[in-house]
Amino acid sequence: MKAVAVIPKKQNSVHLVEMDKPSIDEVKNRRGVLVEVLRVGACGTDREINNAEYGVAPKGFDFLVLGHENFGRVVEVGENVTEIEPGNYVVATVRRPRGKSIYDQIGEQDFTTDDKYFERGISRLHGYMVEFYVEDAEFLVKIPPAIAEIAVLLEPLSIIEKGLKQASDIQERLKIWHPKTAAVLGTGNVGLLTVMALRMRGYTVHSFGKQSGKGYLNAELCESIGATYDSTDDLPLVESVKKYGEYDLVFECTGYSPIIFDAMQSLNENGILILASVTGGERKTDQVPSDKINQMFVLGNRAMVGTVNANREHFEMGVKDLTLCEAMHPGWLGRMLTHKIEGLENFAQAFEILNNSQKYNAIKTYFEVKAISK
Ligand code: BGC
Repeated sequence: MKAVAVIPKKQNSVHLVEMDKPSIDEVKNRRGVLVEVLRVGACGTDREINNAEYGVAPKGFDFLVLGHENFGRVVEVGENVTEIEPGNYVVATVRRPRGKSIYDQIGEQDFTTDDKYFERGISRLHGYMVEFYVEDAEFLVKIPPAIAEIAVLLEPLSIIEKGLKQASDIQERLKIWHPKTAAVLGTGNVGLLTVMALRMRGYTVHSFGKQSGKGYLNAELCESIGATYDSTDDLPLVESVKKYGEYDLVFECTGYSPIIFDAMQSLNENGILILASVTGGERKTDQVPSDKINQMFVLGNRAMVGTVNANREHFEMGVKDLTLCEAMHPGWLGRMLTHKIEGLENFAQAFEILNNSQKYNAIKTYFEVKAISK
């Protein structure tokens, strides 16, 4: 069977490989599930891995099969799998509890403290840009057929769900926290999913991007789900609080690290800033009003948290938000799926779009490995 792989740490090495179809016997305790991949998303992390910034091959291999944003259909299950059956749609989580930390041992591997982590399609485990994969039922989340068309968005959404869950856990320090307004920084696919998740929770949402809102699909999507959109060129974030007030929650997903210092200055008393961009570069900034920021955090009991990866519960939260959004705004999520690549063999086309997403006005590029309808 076909798979899309890279040679980690070798620039632009993406290529097709031929692999054996896996068997459910590879999973212990007869808990294996064979899944045929229907769709697999391509994202900034895949681009960074192909740019040799990131990514580790599994032991014994010199290549890494890419892909972590997945959606598929169950073909076969082991004898001890009772929660899933052939024909079900599933999305698999990404990180596996293979580390030594206590968090791996208690199934909270998204909080691992190990430097070496195990993530399918990213680090030390092959991913889902492949025709079939086998996984332990433990790591598969069942998808209602009603959201099959857009379920390839669940993995990126799970990252946001974890961020929001962490924020609400942290805010339990306050006896009452009734957040009303949020700012979302960045309106790429992660930003748009964050806008959606916050709107589903009833927040007044203000989104910010670099591009002018005129004729910009991402801005239109923000507005059509009830959020505002401003370009930070017209309305810098720190200025925006004069117009919209300070924010109870700020979610950063631009990939541009200097903006986090503006975000810190835009929070309300008791507010929380969530950082979710993996910034692999070397950027530095010295324009930081450190006294002001420090005093705001101290006198206003403000908080900031970093978040990465997601656990099963966050995927399950995401299933609910996708379903609610489809009910409240039918077709909105589908509009995010801007670029479909037919077949894994057309990987070069996917990477051309990933590398030039502005030119292509791409929000989500994904492979259709197999049609959803049988
Ligand atoms: C993935 C996460 C992963 C992170 C860091 C993201 O693109 O969605 O699952 O933990 O990269 O490798």
